[in-house]
Amino acid sequence: MNVKSAVVAVALLSMFGTIAHAATVTVSCGAQGQEFEICKQDVDAWAKKTGHIVRLYTPPASTTDMLAQFRQMFAAKSSDLDVLLVDVIWPGIIKDHLTDLGKYSKGAEKEHFPAIIANNTVDGKLLAMPLYTDAGLLYYRKDLLDKYKLKVPATWDEMAAAARKIQDGERGAGSKDFQGFVFQAKAYEGLSCDAVEWLASFGGGSIVDPGGKVTVNNPKAVLALNTAASWIGSIAPSGVLNYGEDEARGVFQSGKAAFMRNWPYAWSLAQGADSPVRNKIGVAPLPRGGADGRHAGTLGGWQLAVSKYSKNPDAAADLVMYLTSKEVQKKRAIVGSFKPTIVSLYQDKEVMAANPFFASLLDVFANSVPRPSTVTGPKYPAVSEAFWNATHDVLAGKATAEDALKRLEGRLNQIKRGGW
Ligand code: GLC
Repeated sequence: MNVKSAVVAVALLSMFGTIAHAATVTVSCGAQGQEFEICKQDVDAWAKKTGHIVRLYTPPASTTDMLAQFRQMFAAKSSDLDVLLVDVIWPGIIKDHLTDLGKYSKGAEKEHFPAIIANNTVDGKLLAMPLYTDAGLLYYRKDLLDKYKLKVPATWDEMAAAARKIQDGERGAGSKDFQGFVFQAKAYEGLSCDAVEWLASFGGGSIVDPGGKVTVNNPKAVLALNTAASWIGSIAPSGVLNYGEDEARGVFQSGKAAFMRNWPYAWSLAQGADSPVRNKIGVAPLPRGGADGRHAGTLGGWQLAVSKYSKNPDAAADLVMYLTSKEVQKKRAIVGSFKPTIVSLYQDKEVMAANPFFASLLDVFANSVPRPSTVTGPKYPAVSEAFWNATHDVLAGKATAEDALKRLEGRLNQIKRGGW
């Protein structure tokens, strides 16, 4: 505790005699975009209100690295972290290390989307409170579609053709490093999200079906991966093989790409006062895989939980309830375009005005595609890793989609051995 916060805590203690003691709570806010900054403001406001002391922990930006770090801490029963972010795919994986928030929530969970609360409830225990929800989106440059007389693409082929036309035109006009399309293709969870969209958009299933059968080796999945592979080095730089969300956003936001696949958080940043693409962008559903395909955005999102090893679970839970409250979710939606999980915020004029696509893309969000994390439970990380590695090999030209998916099927059945 630094001297200043100690003094503030003592002063508050004497003002509000009800606080038994000022606890120190360490919280892991996100690290992507402006997530850390926004979280810091909210956490500081809570500290001021309660007299508790907060320490901020900066996690790695990638969900894959974050999970690895948290699992190490859990294995050591470390009390270093009290409050942590939980990806929508994790409750089944880290359930043994989280505190049941049921006794703290006072029914607040009823305000949130029931499907997310169900996802966060394991064996009757409410292990995390929803902070925001996510779905994959197609960002495009409105001004460039107008300039080249193009429509918002409805299929991947239309997207690739438009990206090619704009890229050729812009490069010809002197913007030598202009790109048609940027997305996430680093070997990590973000690539699994993008590839789940490609598969679903072509009718190629969801890797493992809800009944637990490995379905990934099918002709439509082959077509989906071949389509994505055809973009590398043509409309997308080969550098995408190393891009996460923020790398793709960096290129798009600096005005160097026509299209981008990303999550809602990119909206508020690309629309920021100093953004070169401010008021030049639009958001659409991700393209369909051909005329018979569908628009598919992967379901993502984050929750907040209290570590079972926390020495201050009461204060930590109070912070979680505050950060996931209507007031804070509203602010986060307006400032950071984080999609609320509290249903009534979709009736809030300020929230909806700041994020016009919340209303215009209702279908995308209502029909977002889950990853097979529920059916594969604790084995999901192994499933996803095998899937992103196979996909990365195809995109990098190291394997054909046919071979990679056949091998992946074998590997997934191996992982499944003994059941999911
Ligand atoms: C976003 C999503 C999360 C997903 C991650 C992949 O943060 O909300 O669910 O796992 O991206 O990079």
